[in-house]
Amino acid sequence: MARLNVNGISMAYNRRGSGTPLLLVHGFPLDGRLWELLADQLDSQFDVLMPDLRGFGESGAEVGATSMVQMAGDLAALLDLLKLPQTVVAGHSMGGYISLAFAHAYPERVLGLGLIGSQAAPDSPEGHARRYATAEQVATQGPQAVIGMADKLTANPQFAPMLREVILRQPASGLIGGLKAMAERADARAYLPNFGFPVALVHGLADALIPPERSREMQALLPKAELLELPGVGHSPFIEAPVETAQALMSLR
Ligand code: MLT
Repeated sequence: MARLNVNGISMAYNRRGSGTPLLLVHGFPLDGRLWELLADQLDSQFDVLMPDLRGFGESGAEVGATSMVQMAGDLAALLDLLKLPQTVVAGHSMGGYISLAFAHAYPERVLGLGLIGSQAAPDSPEGHARRYATAEQVATQGPQAVIGMADKLTANPQFAPMLREVILRQPASGLIGGLKAMAERADARAYLPNFGFPVALVHGLADALIPPERSREMQALLPKAELLELPGVGHSPFIEAPVETAQALMSLR
């Protein structure tokens, strides 16, 4: 992986392909290397950039994130260093929350927005409290505390062992930071009517973590959005249905 110093951290990223710049923002508790299957479908059309977010993967170190806005700022700084003023931005789940924060803060930089298994609504009070309880468990048990998520991240049991492996390599500080940043994220529904760029929404109809209604809710609020719903697909369409997910993102070029 390549590295650049971004906002005081050493940020690791993979980059492949050529064409329109495409920034892929990973979800929780994952990292950027999981995008490779999707990148196989996209690298003939896009210059694909796949960073590990602050606190995750090879950008781990001691630095957990504090907010979605901070992680969006890291990505803007990375794009500045790479001299990419405008990109298509696509995020999975938590990566979608960060992509929404990015699009709100830097709308002029966004050519198109992809939201995969994500939502604009904030946590419920119960969900918010659960994040803090999980963060305490991670502080004592490390990534083992969230290993059970592997089975919920996909409707296809074939992918669960790979997801477990990815979860176990995440630093505790990054997981704790991600949990608290998700708990405190803004209600992004208010931003959506102002998004003038095209948006591609992709949601598995068998998503066990975020219900498909959350993408339908976003579509209703967005001026220019297409929604692809995938029967039998779970929370990770970019792994479970990479060809269909790639096609949806192609429309953003
Ligand atoms: C993710 O996949 O990024 C997380 O499950 C999202 C969340 O917990 O809200």
